[in-house]
Amino acid sequence: MIMNGQNDPTASAESRELQKQIDYAARVRELNSKKRTPPAAFVETYGCQQNVSDSEKLSGMLRDMGFRLCGSADGADLVIFNTCAVRENAELKVFGNLGALKHKKRKNPDMLIGVCGCMMQQEHIAKTIEKKYKHVDIVFGTHALYRFPQILCEAMSGRTVFDVKDEAGAIHEGAPTERGAKPLAKVPVMYGCNNFCTYCIVPYVRGRERSRTPENILAEVREIADDGYKEVMLLGQNVNSYGAGLDGAPSFAQLLRMVCGVSGIERVRFMTSHPKDLSDELIRAMAEEKKICAQLHLPVQSGSDRVLKAMNRKYTRAEYLEKVRRIREAVPDIVLTTDIIVGFPTETNEDFADTMSLLKEVEYDMIFSFIYSKRVGTPAAEMPDCLTDEEKHRNFDEMLKLQNGISKRKNLKYIGTTQAVLIEGLSKTNAETITGRTEGGKIVNIMCPELTQTQKTAMCGIIRDVLITGAQTWSLSGKLK
Ligand code: 5AD
Ligand code: SF4
Repeated sequence: MIMNGQNDPTASAESRELQKQIDYAARVRELNSKKRTPPAAFVETYGCQQNVSDSEKLSGMLRDMGFRLCGSADGADLVIFNTCAVRENAELKVFGNLGALKHKKRKNPDMLIGVCGCMMQQEHIAKTIEKKYKHVDIVFGTHALYRFPQILCEAMSGRTVFDVKDEAGAIHEGAPTERGAKPLAKVPVMYGCNNFCTYCIVPYVRGRERSRTPENILAEVREIADDGYKEVMLLGQNVNSYGAGLDGAPSFAQLLRMVCGVSGIERVRFMTSHPKDLSDELIRAMAEEKKICAQLHLPVQSGSDRVLKAMNRKYTRAEYLEKVRRIREAVPDIVLTTDIIVGFPTETNEDFADTMSLLKEVEYDMIFSFIYSKRVGTPAAEMPDCLTDEEKHRNFDEMLKLQNGISKRKNLKYIGTTQAVLIEGLSKTNAETITGRTEGGKIVNIMCPELTQTQKTAMCGIIRDVLITGAQTWSLSGKLK
């Protein structure tokens, strides 16, 4: 669709901005069309699913502007790092990889290097890049994503571009998207976060909560279904508060039911849910709607009431456990996963013991555990540490050991059962195997040496009954029925 809102006084600011970006994209396309071959662009993504979704938009815009997408920085004419600020190790990786690009740029001085995403919304990081990484041509933050055609056009005219303003506001629809492999498509329903957990940088770098309209979300889901995607993952930092501040918006549970109504879509997942906002209405929707997968990621962060309070999580251990009880009552076969932070400031070994006992009590299918990482500007960065680094690492290892045992035991219970598995593709490590996921999101490796490669490929996107014959800590194995 080519819009023309530039000279129309009744056009909204957003449609005028979209038209401006469409015009910049045309200019970049024009510049690229003069080259002998389409220039190659490489987008590297760090961090969460929201970043993956943003990179799909960057890639979509790049393709639209005449770039060829490639799988590595080697030989690329344009490299973009879409960064994550949630923990320090992700940031260090970006700095390390940026350092390595200096050498590549020396060999190919025309190469353009860009960094974007959450890290760039932090002033001290943007300044470091400006001062110490002179080979970087483009720096832009999460809020400037929609202006990428303009940013790139300026950089291709030889300017260094810094666009890191703190201006989260309107949602800009309409960017072309280069989606990941079928059958799963990711669809953001909201951006930003209002919760200000004391350890977390997200509200500072992604701004306050903004929800997309149900009309825009449903239009995208229909498009995805028409394109042959079977599974949708609805994304947001806290999907359970979807619609707040959006006049007449449905609740998240109602939105989920609407998405389930889109024909062609067979499975619907969502993440992330803040436990304080997990409503009975949502639990009911999960129990009633066949397409909503029996899977819930419900980050608890800690099993200690004292730590939960210091984290500003706004629920107690007992309240969290009550939500787990209710969801399990309504959806008995639910696959539950969580996030845990080990070594939060002020955490003692007694607090840690509370987290261990919570893990034993809930018996999650899987956990994502992190050692606390100090984030500049967050309240927790000012809180004192109780444990040494050595103690934190020891606790972390102990927790992994406990959870690995639980995960394995839970997976063993699937042996002998039949699971509906949505086939995702050929195994990367074994030519005789295809992989897929159960409704609960567990990976299943299916041995099928009797099938040809073509037959295996043709099964992608199809739901098949699979007899589970083996269980590992992170996955199941089985055979087609
Ligand atoms: N240090 C360690 N882990 C963190 N997370 C968020 N901020 C931090 C931090 N400063 C974790 C939380 C969150 C997940 C996405 O990342 O567990 O749920
Ligand atoms: Fe960060 Fe808490 Fe918001 Fe999640 S809910 S993004 S942990 S502030």
